[in-house]
This record gives sequence, C-alpha cells and structure tokens, in this order.
Amino acid sequence: MFVITLEEGRESFLCREDETVLAAMLRQRRGHLRCGCFGGGCGICVMRIISGAYHQIKPMSRAHVSEAEQAESVVLLCCVEPRGDIVLARVNDLKKNGRYNDGIQQNA
Ligand code: FES
Repeated sequence: MFVITLEEGRESFLCREDETVLAAMLRQRRGHLRCGCFGGGCGICVMRIISGAYHQIKPMSRAHVSEAEQAESVVLLCCVEPRGDIVLARVNDLKKNGRYNDGIQQNA
C-alpha cells in the first residue's frame, strides 16, 4: 500500500499496488472526484506526478497526453499504478504557478 499525496491541500490517500491511482482516489473520495472512461481516452483524469515511481498499465490517448508531456510525468490517473509513494499536482495549477511553462497545451 502506498501513500498518494495531492500537492494542493496536502491531502493524502492510500493506493494498492494493483489498482490505478484514479480508482483509489475515487474509492476514498479524495481529489477532484471526476471520472470518465477509465480507459485512457477522455483525458479528464490528467495530472502530473511530481515525485514517486509508477507503472503504466494502459495506453494514454495522445490527444490528452503528448509524448513531451509524458516525458514530464504528465499521466492519466486511470492508466497508472503506484510503485511507491507518489505526489501529484494538477497540471493547470502548475501552469498557474509558473512551474510548468514548457509549451504544453492546457486540458480544459
Ligand atoms: S478516466 Fe478517461 S482518461 Fe482517465
């Protein structure tokens, strides 16, 4: 069991190694509580992993996470399982705070 921390508000929840971060977030009613396809296609669960190891279990739609974004640890939470404690940040919050300004398009 790993600890997932949301940078904004320092809210934390637990996630098993065999469940996606989105599934754990929803199960414990943490974070943004928005969900869509659960299959890497709609982009609603996009966040950036600030620190921590993870494993991608499904392909992520390139319409929502480009190769450049993925290289910056932008992920769809329905597609990743933790391999250690993780800290997450909303992509839009990073842009707003000037910490993520490398030309990546904003997902509205
Ligand atoms: S819920 Fe649709 S991409 Fe994650």
